[in-house]
Amino acid sequence: MTVTPATPATPEASTDLHLVVTGGAGYIGSHAAMRLLDLGHRVTVVDSLARGHRGAVATLAAAGGARFRFEECDLRETARVAAVLRAAPVDAVLHFAALAYVGESVEEPLAYYACNTGGGLSLLVAMREAGVRRIIFSSTCATYGEPEAAHIPIAESVPQRPINPYGRSKLHFEEILRDEAARPGDAPLGAVALRYFNVAGCDARGRLGEDHRPESHLIPIALEVALGKRDAMRIFGEDYPTPDGTCIRDYVHVEDLVDAHVAALGAIEPGRVRAWNIGIGRGYSVREVLEACRRVTGHAIPATSAPRRAGDPPVLFADASAARRDLGFAPRRTDLDGTVRSAWNWMRAHPDGYAD
Ligand code: UFG
Repeated sequence: MTVTPATPATPEASTDLHLVVTGGAGYIGSHAAMRLLDLGHRVTVVDSLARGHRGAVATLAAAGGARFRFEECDLRETARVAAVLRAAPVDAVLHFAALAYVGESVEEPLAYYACNTGGGLSLLVAMREAGVRRIIFSSTCATYGEPEAAHIPIAESVPQRPINPYGRSKLHFEEILRDEAARPGDAPLGAVALRYFNVAGCDARGRLGEDHRPESHLIPIALEVALGKRDAMRIFGEDYPTPDGTCIRDYVHVEDLVDAHVAALGAIEPGRVRAWNIGIGRGYSVREVLEACRRVTGHAIPATSAPRRAGDPPVLFADASAARRDLGFAPRRTDLDGTVRSAWNWMRAHPDGYAD
């Protein structure tokens, strides 16, 4: 069966799309799925639940009713994924499913290539079999590696030289997308790669949260101290060449990131892979983030000095002007305290995370 998806000029305005969201039971994927349901679209989440949560699926099911479906399936099960894609015409795939710990990727590189590169490849095979030719891919600023100081803020033109298997597994899939989009013949693939910086915060309505196991990200760890789940946090390196000696990152609110995906649906072009950085375009140091967590929670959040964490570049923040120009990306939730507060609200309401 060949499906020729419509390309609505303003997908946000359309309420008639069927979108497949891989990794939709995870942190970012679930927020994207919820937004698509809120906009009136039909959503099928495909997730192995290896890292995702049944609780997130249940929340999406309650919100979406008959417009929501869930398939528990690993993307490497090509025939099953193709069957899901053939079951009802699909306008586009939003591909979030991935392993996403830099440190783990160094210890288990093959798991990262198998899941992130191999899973993506299998998805593309299934998409071709089912005639689905539009995809938005969750890429990462980790594909840039450690850019020279002259390349900060990071634009899309900065050479992609990842320094760990996680970044390489994502870059490999970008390259596979480029080759598949360039393939001669009818119905070429159209793809968008969004290269995320540090994603933070939660759904303003408190329906969905961030629940990584184990947790390694700065904001949730600081908030777990405030919640009493940890005695103290560690600051990994206070001797970096930055104003306060700690690393600087670009914390983009998950709901702004989701806005970028909705806009990107209207920017997919057959035969091309378009790529944009998604960040707020300014950086905060670890110490600044910690202070924000202290202000929001009213907790002292004890922090001890610890050695540098391997592979942490001193400064990473985005030049997101291309996304602003091409996608109309204008992040609205750029107040760091507000981002932390949205994460804190969910965490206080769900101190043990999702039930399963
Ligand atoms: N940090 C601490 N203490 C902690 C946790 C983190 O000091 O307990 C520091 C880190 O060293 C880093 C900063 O806080 O300087 C942010 O660390 P995160 O782990 O929250 O985020 P990363 O910048 O390491 O990782 C993010 C994404 C990855 C992506 C990477 C690209 O989470 O998926 O950016 O560099 F690959």
